[in-house]
Amino acid sequence: MTVLARAQQADDVAEVLVTAEEIAAKVHELGVRIAADYQGKDLVLVSILKGALPFLADLMRATQIPLALDFLEVSSYGAGTESTGAVRILKDLAHPIEGRHVLVVEDILDTGHTLSYVFDHLRAQRPESVRLCVLLDKPARRVIPIEIDYRGFEIPDKFVVGYGLDYAERYRNLPFVGVLKPEVYARRS
Ligand code: IMP
Ligand code: MG
Repeated sequence: MTVLARAQQADDVAEVLVTAEEIAAKVHELGVRIAADYQGKDLVLVSILKGALPFLADLMRATQIPLALDFLEVSSYGAGTESTGAVRILKDLAHPIEGRHVLVVEDILDTGHTLSYVFDHLRAQRPESVRLCVLLDKPARRVIPIEIDYRGFEIPDKFVVGYGLDYAERYRNLPFVGVLKPEVYARRS
């Protein structure tokens, strides 16, 4: 990416909600708690592509116990900002989870449609336990109640980008979580 394109991407952000430093401190805190809770257990971090990737990469290095990784890819929003409620598995787990301790690592909990579907899908495979770690929680938007075991930050009802989160596949590589300027959406419609 050119210097100009990089500057333009950050220029599209109206407001930073969570800074890179705040994210790093919280991820460290979560990793220490997870390591203590799962010490001596067969832990698999199951992450949902693609938005959770930066969070997973940082969280696993903050979690200093033996663990395995696996991935699911699900369809959710397409290019818009509203959940349809229709969730589909695009890529399934590579390894069996029966009898193992699964911790789902996700970027954001919004309506709950995606995680409710993912939890049903995982529980059907008879893991020993399934718990949830989310970086961001938007409780104002919840349609399906979901229990959060490890939560990073509660945020207001705003569409956010950065640290993995996208708008139409862009902005995932911003190091912070922010809100886009309204004119960015206007450009596409
Ligand atoms: P839910 O099914 O409505 O809970 O939405 C979960 C998924 O929607 C997340 O994994 C994200 O991919 C996406 N999503 C929800 N809210 C936002 C947001 O504010 N910014 C970017 N993506 C979001
Ligand atoms: Mg997304």
